[in-house]
Amino acid sequence: MAALRFGLVTRNERSWSSTQLLEAMRRAGIESLCLRLPRLVARVAYPPAASSDDTDLLEKLSALIIRPIGRGSLEEIIFRMDLLYRLERLGMLVVNPPKSIERAIDKYYALSLLEEHGLPVPRTAVTESPREALRAFHELGGDVVVKPLFGSRGVGSTRVSDPDVAERIFHSISLHHGVLYLQEFISHGSSDIRAFVLGGRVLASMRRVAEGWKTNVSQGARPVPVRLGEEMEELAVKASEVIGCMVAGVDILESEEGPKVIEVNSQPGWRGLQTVTRVNIADEIIRYLISVVKK
Ligand SMILES: Nc1ncnc2c1ncn2[C@@H]1O[C@H](COP(=O)(O)OP(=O)(O)O)[C@@H](O)[C@H]1O
Ligand SMILES: [Mg+2]
Repeated sequence: MAALRFGLVTRNERSWSSTQLLEAMRRAGIESLCLRLPRLVARVAYPPAASSDDTDLLEKLSALIIRPIGRGSLEEIIFRMDLLYRLERLGMLVVNPPKSIERAIDKYYALSLLEEHGLPVPRTAVTESPREALRAFHELGGDVVVKPLFGSRGVGSTRVSDPDVAERIFHSISLHHGVLYLQEFISHGSSDIRAFVLGGRVLASMRRVAEGWKTNVSQGARPVPVRLGEEMEELAVKASEVIGCMVAGVDILESEEGPKVIEVNSQPGWRGLQTVTRVNIADEIIRYLISVVKK
């Protein structure tokens, strides 16, 4: 059998996680091809259906690994997603599946699905109206986290506990056509849990210990080893399944009422996590993909 070849969709092939995946593929004897979504060509009614330079993706690749799909206009993002869907329909293994990327990227979509499947999530209100947002601010106890709907790495999230500040912020977000996503502030004692789920099991996890309330490693939080109990592991796996991820970084806050899932990342990095775990995460991802492709 010819060697397997996986495509790695990345904006930066030298980024830490991409480099890790490329090295893991080399160790596993898998050929790799780095791709950038903005450079792909899609064809309809004449072949090939998708290509990068002159490479026919469906013919040459057994799987496509998606790292962050990047920012773009609504048109660009929808086209990128449509292309991933098309590749999947035509038989390509796309990881994470486009459906799960779509669900995970939108914090409201993801949180509502989690709630519908009975998972504990914080009380959250979403609206385009600054007036309604101010009402929700009071409903949620006057201490909320306001997050960008499509944000990541803690960028742009703010804690608001002053009604005057809330009003100003809501109006200015609205002026820029942002959607107002408000969540009750959960006192988590400056740390939370990140569980890395791969193929239906928790592969690795960490406690992220911060100085303030934002526990993203990219905001300076420190990864600390943690052993999750069965309940936490089940919660993380279920959350990733509800969203439909094969690989996921699940963020869980520990509140006084118990754990609350705040988000599922469909394109998680693992640089911090790798420092507190023995398993080589990139090797495990590649090994898992090989097993799925060969099924
Ligand atoms: N409701 C909340 N209460 C307290 N802290 C929160 C809340 N929501 C988020 N945080 C903190 O902010 C961080 C970023 O929030 P998250 O929803 O994971 O968005 P991002 O996509 O930016 O990582 C979390 O890891 C957590 O530390
Ligand atoms: Mg997060």
